[in-house]
Amino acid sequence: MVRKILKLGDETLRKTSKPMQKFDLRLWLLLRDMTETMRKAEGVGLAAPQVGILRRVVVIDVGDEHGLIELINPEIIAAEGEQAGSEGCLSVPGRRGYVVRPSKVTVRAQDRKGKPFEITGEDLLARALCHEIDHLDGIIYVDKMDHEIFDDDEEAQ
Ligand code: CO
Repeated sequence: MVRKILKLGDETLRKTSKPMQKFDLRLWLLLRDMTETMRKAEGVGLAAPQVGILRRVVVIDVGDEHGLIELINPEIIAAEGEQAGSEGCLSVPGRRGYVVRPSKVTVRAQDRKGKPFEITGEDLLARALCHEIDHLDGIIYVDKMDHEIFDDDEEAQ
């Protein structure tokens, strides 16, 4: 089921999400809905608070060899380098911003059954991991952006 994506200005997006403790059907249905919602909106990532659920659950698919990544209770445990680039968010439609992020991050999380694992991402995946995990703490990329990107700027690049 495709869920409604909350937009910038909705207070729910600013709240801190709680850890997921039960790895049961309710979680699996949430993951399924989040993936459907992300794909329909043609996004590369979605965090549970964006669909109004204040739990530490994220889905990402940047179209690389990792395919769909499901992250429960993710934490960044290592970060290195720096990348500066354009970033958008399904909760901030029609806008892009210039955001500096680490170029490589390692995340520890649990899978849909509660089993711990680690994933390392570079470039776009590193950016997506940072962006989505920020959502779990009520942080939106506009808080961190250096400046807004307008169409004219992109043509100039
Ligand atoms: Co976002």
